[in-house]
Amino acid sequence: MGNNLLEIFNHERKGLDHPLHSFHAYPCKFPAFIPREIIKRYANKGDVICDPFVGSGTTLLEATLLGYSSIGNDINPLSCLLSKVKGKPLDKKLLNKIDILLTYLLEHYKKTDVVKEYYYKSIEHWFQENVVRELSFLKENILRIKEQDLRDLLLIVLSSIIVKVSNQESDTRYVAIEKRLKDYETIKMFIEKAEEIKRAHLDFFEKTKNKKIDVKILQLDSRNLSAIKDDFVDIIITSPPYANTYDYYLYHKHRKYWLDMDIKFAQLNEIGSRREFSSLKESPKKWEEDIKKCLLEMRRIIREHKNIFIIIGDSVINKKIIKMDEIIKRLSGEIGLKYIDGVSVPLSRHSRAFNPSFASALEKKEHLILLKK
Ligand SMILES: C[S@@+](CC[C@H](N)C(=O)[O-])C[C@H]1O[C@@H](n2cnc3c(N)ncnc32)[C@H](O)[C@@H]1O
Repeated sequence: MGNNLLEIFNHERKGLDHPLHSFHAYPCKFPAFIPREIIKRYANKGDVICDPFVGSGTTLLEATLLGYSSIGNDINPLSCLLSKVKGKPLDKKLLNKIDILLTYLLEHYKKTDVVKEYYYKSIEHWFQENVVRELSFLKENILRIKEQDLRDLLLIVLSSIIVKVSNQESDTRYVAIEKRLKDYETIKMFIEKAEEIKRAHLDFFEKTKNKKIDVKILQLDSRNLSAIKDDFVDIIITSPPYANTYDYYLYHKHRKYWLDMDIKFAQLNEIGSRREFSSLKESPKKWEEDIKKCLLEMRRIIREHKNIFIIIGDSVINKKIIKMDEIIKRLSGEIGLKYIDGVSVPLSRHSRAFNPSFASALEKKEHLILLKK
């Protein structure tokens, strides 16, 4: 069994990941081969796969490509929209309508106007005036689209360029720098990304066209997954936030403003956030309480004798290293989940996919843990 888990964790990338995986930045994604290899080795026909911390939708995209129905949940509304766009294939006819919008944009972009209703506090600090004008023009035209699936897809295209065209240094650094974007650059970037997602989705459509798949997305706090019935899912593959590592709500702030998404719910209910553990000086006990509630919910929603795969990295809270494999093992025992196996690798191993600064502390490990109900 250990060998199996280790093989998954150390899997050599054979062939390319589907291009939709890399379409939109999202911090702390896990590599696509992890859910792919787990599903290939452990899923049976008709299984429902669930990821309660779905993030950018990596698990859902792999489940759909392999022909399985899935449920993805995340507290972050951007994650929900992104997972929907990455998990659900769209019809060719609908995708071809993207060209109509792009032609319109090319013909009319010179007449762009600032739409004041899109202004929010400190927007001038984070965006150049010409960029605000072009983003407003793009947003106005996307919101006019009647088909919701197409509108959602194009909102994700808009979201994918927001940080690049803002003054925010990068997806993982929340400081303003000067970028000096010329007129039309924002529109051009949007058009290129829209063409890229169209190609990726046409391929996704071809690869999944005869498969009957149901993809559900929920925006709930994983400590209470009330919308999922008891004993409903067959496999859980998930990576909870690594404690004291990241503030997901903060780095997606501008995307959420532009997409009219609520920031507060995620900000207040995100577990393990750096805000909570660094500035508010919470103790590791708080993390344990939160993750225990999540494990209880996982136990409730998964069927008897079925597998839960958890990918989690060690953390430092109040200068103390927290060994996550030991915590998960102890907590799962306390709530009646069987600890079957676990393998660990140095955190830096997946550093290209995970947060590199977090991976740099060499003594920290990342764990793949298998639990069973
Ligand atoms: C490590 S990321 C998951 C990344 C995902 N595996 C991927 O490949 O994109 C952890 C996720 O947990 C979410 N999260 C944090 N607190 C949550 C909560 N209380 N309930 C549900 N999701 C939460 C964050 O928004 C983030 O998307």
